[in-house]
Amino acid sequence: MSQKIFVIGGGGREHALCWKIARSPLVGSILCAPGNPGIAQIAQTRAVSPEDLSALLELAREFQPDLTIVGPDNPLALGIVDLFTANGFKTFGPNQKAAQFEASKVFTKEFCLRHHIPTARSEQFTDVTKALACSRDWPFPQVIKADGLALGKGVIIAQNAAEAEAAIDDMLVKKVFGAAGEKILIEEFLTGPEISAHAFVDGKTFAMMPIAQDHKRVGEGDTGLNTGGMGTFSPVPFASDADIAQIAEEVFERFMEGCRKENIDYRGILFPGLILTTDGPKVLEFNARFGDPETQSYMRRMESDLVEVCHACVDGTLAGQEIRWNTQTAICVVVASGGYPGNYQKNSPITGLDHASEMPGVVVFHAGTSLKDGAVINSGGRVLGVTALEDSLPAARQRAYAAVDQIHFSGAFCRRDIAAKGLV
Ligand code: AMP
Ligand code: GLY
Repeated sequence: MSQKIFVIGGGGREHALCWKIARSPLVGSILCAPGNPGIAQIAQTRAVSPEDLSALLELAREFQPDLTIVGPDNPLALGIVDLFTANGFKTFGPNQKAAQFEASKVFTKEFCLRHHIPTARSEQFTDVTKALACSRDWPFPQVIKADGLALGKGVIIAQNAAEAEAAIDDMLVKKVFGAAGEKILIEEFLTGPEISAHAFVDGKTFAMMPIAQDHKRVGEGDTGLNTGGMGTFSPVPFASDADIAQIAEEVFERFMEGCRKENIDYRGILFPGLILTTDGPKVLEFNARFGDPETQSYMRRMESDLVEVCHACVDGTLAGQEIRWNTQTAICVVVASGGYPGNYQKNSPITGLDHASEMPGVVVFHAGTSLKDGAVINSGGRVLGVTALEDSLPAARQRAYAAVDQIHFSGAFCRRDIAAKGLV
């Protein structure tokens, strides 16, 4: 049977998912909302926002998908899985209750404590006086976090008392994040390499993906402002087998056990951000979706059929399924618009996409692109994810940057040190 797959989202992550789904022999057609010009080469696209759940439901009624796969976190937090499932559409992703892990840092922190999942020490506050008193007692740097979703801006690493007080004041008094900052956490600063773990989850069991590393800061050497992620690679040579076994046991197994005890039916992707400290791996956050741009690297390494695995997660039949990954190294280098993550330039034509894509081992995923008079232009902060897959990490880096060098648009930049930490 030729299946119809509906993908929600329109970034680099969703292009990578659509690219992988299009390679499945099970699949006949793909619809993606809103999609982007890269996705439009392999799927139908419709300009509907991932947050407009009723318009998405209308699209589903028209398209009659066999499976819907949700990319971004917002529709999950808004309950898209509950809504689609109630209307008879099989949907991959956590329901609204399960998606709370991403939507509330306080909820996640309390869950970790209840189930002995290793995480940074922290305290929660709604009262500004108490928060300031705690901040004065703790060493610096310390981390101040808004409880809710704050467009990736709700985490402040305060180097001194003045920065901590400003962050606490912004969140609890000035309410710059609105309701998302009504509760805050003050958290111990962890040191060590930061890695991304992902697992497919089916409500009872989990299957870990390989480890990846993202590069969150805009500047080389991990300097400058935080971004959505400037590039990834997988595998990560400094995440040892022992680290991975410890993450499986202390993070994923305890998470599943916690969900069982608390009646949380978690299905979809679980993506903890972790720091490998000298005391072992510790959880920074749980994301309820695929990472972006981790997915761009992962899809280059996944050999099993993504559609089959997603069905198994929704059906609760993941146990015993072997998920295969190639042993090569995948790298994704994000090419961004000048000015990102602040106000950025846009609307410049992009050249060299065909040349880059023709290089062996290279796939270019679109993120912030649009079409104008038939030409591809940059329209977002993160514009492209240029991926390469090679037998070794040095070869993958060389290839990815050779492809990046084919691509030009006004103001374009990337980090030149993606995966440099993996060189041994
Ligand atoms: P988040 O929005 O939770 O992903 O946090 C943004 C970034 O802040 C993370 O990717 C980390 O690099 C950093 N971060 C968050 N919490 C901590 C912590 N407790 N210790 C050190 N770095 C942290
Ligand atoms: N790349 C980090 C994230 O998707 O949250």
